[in-house]
Amino acid sequence: MGWYGDWVLPRVINVACGMQVGVPLRQRVCEQLHGRVLELGFGSGLNVPYYPAGVTAVDAVEPSDLAWKLAGKRLAASSVPVRRSALDGELLPYGEDSFDTALSTWTLCTIPHPAAALREVRRVLRPGGTLHFVEHGLAPDEDVRRWQHRLEPLQKRLFGGCHLTRSVGDLLTAAGFTLTELDVFYEKGAPKALGADSLGTAVSG
Ligand SMILES: C[S@@+](CC[C@H](N)C(=O)[O-])C[C@H]1O[C@@H](n2cnc3c(N)ncnc32)[C@H](O)[C@@H]1O
Repeated sequence: MGWYGDWVLPRVINVACGMQVGVPLRQRVCEQLHGRVLELGFGSGLNVPYYPAGVTAVDAVEPSDLAWKLAGKRLAASSVPVRRSALDGELLPYGEDSFDTALSTWTLCTIPHPAAALREVRRVLRPGGTLHFVEHGLAPDEDVRRWQHRLEPLQKRLFGGCHLTRSVGDLLTAAGFTLTELDVFYEKGAPKALGADSLGTAVSG
């Protein structure tokens, strides 16, 4: 990705995604995790403090070495064993039915081929396993969508390929997940053009 993507962007994301406003959403999306967990786009480990007691181990999927390094203190303070065992969500090195639950927070916007990543998550989740997610994406309102389409090229350049106009629910259902919970809302304090957050649970089928 070059110097900016390797050395600057992970620090920017660590600060931007680490803001207090995200904490209740992280708590909410993590609360039903249990057993062996796959975390897609682990970033700098901002979800680690919110893993509940029923989580036995976490496999982190994260391409950025610096993001993983920035997670150091949170990992040291965690009682849950976390290992970075894959770099790319589109090609997971695990067998079928390996995980009880999976977690994705503000990651499907950035993965180049989210459909491929979701197919992989579904493959490695056990039957009936659940994906817990909070993602920003296409807004429900047409006037906001127009702004999202205008701003997306700039957003992608500045934030490592982050898209504004992906439809999270549609991506999940197209990958074969069944949505069992879906809450769509504008995040407090965030510019509306970032889109609406989709927070929920999807079953692997
Ligand atoms: C906006 S950040 C969110 C990080 C973290 N999930 C959080 O909530 O703070 C998007 C993350 O997706 C990661 N990412 C990008 N491409 C990826 C891929 N192909 N597979 C897995 N993660 C990827 C980035 O490195 C980055 O850490």
